[in-house]
Amino acid sequence: MRSIGVGLIGWGTVGSGVIEVLRENADAIESRLGVPLRLLHVADRDLDRDRPIRVDASLLTTRLEDVLDDPQVHIVIELMGGLGAAKDVIVRALDSGKHVVTANKALLAHEGNDLFQTAVRNDRAIGFEAAVAGGIPLIKSLREGLAGNRIKTIFGILNGTANYILTRMTEAKLSFQAALKEAQDLGYAEADPALDVEGIDTAHKLAIAAALSFGTPIQFEQVYTEGITRIDPLDVRYGEEFGYQLKLLAIARNTDGRIEMRVHPTLIPHHHVLASVKGAYNAVHIQGNAVGNIMLYGMGAGMMPTGSAVVSDLIDIARDILGNTPRRIPSLAFQPDRLKPLPIKPIEDISTCYYFRFSAVDSPGVLSKISGILGENRISIASVIQKGRQEEASVPIVMLTHEAVESHVRRALAEIDRLDVVTSRTQVIRIENQETNDFF
Ligand code: HSE
Repeated sequence: MRSIGVGLIGWGTVGSGVIEVLRENADAIESRLGVPLRLLHVADRDLDRDRPIRVDASLLTTRLEDVLDDPQVHIVIELMGGLGAAKDVIVRALDSGKHVVTANKALLAHEGNDLFQTAVRNDRAIGFEAAVAGGIPLIKSLREGLAGNRIKTIFGILNGTANYILTRMTEAKLSFQAALKEAQDLGYAEADPALDVEGIDTAHKLAIAAALSFGTPIQFEQVYTEGITRIDPLDVRYGEEFGYQLKLLAIARNTDGRIEMRVHPTLIPHHHVLASVKGAYNAVHIQGNAVGNIMLYGMGAGMMPTGSAVVSDLIDIARDILGNTPRRIPSLAFQPDRLKPLPIKPIEDISTCYYFRFSAVDSPGVLSKISGILGENRISIASVIQKGRQEEASVPIVMLTHEAVESHVRRALAEIDRLDVVTSRTQVIRIENQETNDFF
């Protein structure tokens, strides 16, 4: 075979990155692969939109069939986004004997198990390095670099937009809306920014990474998800006063065959390496039983980093086409017939440390009422500060706890929030520190 043919469907920010990487690095790619990767078609519904790059008009088409029916195309890159139409394109490509590369984490989170089965039936591969953590080779690390390990835990900052917003709220004291607008202008955000700020995009990525780590099918519906829209700048500030940084953290853990998967705002010690991950950078910390602790760090979003990840999949698949070893590495790292849906630990059963911000009247006995209820629920206080002054109608009381069980915390806070001295709903943020994991 003298070249590998590639067709791109969906010419947006990431598509532009792919075209640019293929163009800029054509020599290096050909030297690594032995033959060139040839981009034969770029398909999009709308070819007139403003784009960051120009493309030879002879490659452009609005017709999917030009890509899907071309026998010269070995690999189809799906970058349309969305669910239904994108799934249809991938299935049609696989059924017509083409391999697929996609960055569509939402689709994989919802339909990945089905799509991987379709790929197996057709003896074709689906590459999705760009779907999780942008330019960071996380999928490759889990599938290949760490293949000799049992993975115990993953902690990740997996959404560039949310991390950018929290960084700007912390460092430049921007409002949530102003920081979101900046992230959108920089091209990090999803078409629907709710996916970024409600934690759903992070949950899509965590579900995929957890499946690859623990040998389960993708179980997105089981991920407990909380976003950053209810974060008050006050909590960012008080967190800092206690020596913590606020991050939207994705956590997956395999404890004795039960799996914990959760995404939520999390306070982490400010000296910790994950706390220094700023802006649109992503980072993933993995604990394997043989390797110990490793960290991967890099750009989690943006045109060129995500383009880099897509092109790495093209090269991997092209190598397997040239070597006639399709699906040499199983999509989800484990052989499809060995995937086991392990039981999920409900959020009520998790145990972690907590930050509470109570709003209460400033009068004698208030703190003892609150701490009494916490004590009755086996929640032990690690530190407490009261902000504000007696003249104010309501003052914030900020408290950090030792490790406690989530269901006890929920029961205690429901009771505390009913006290007549408590003036509004208590803010709760989970904490990861030395007490919860020796990595912190
Ligand atoms: N919207 C995503 C992010 C893009 O902000 O990380 C990369 O998946």
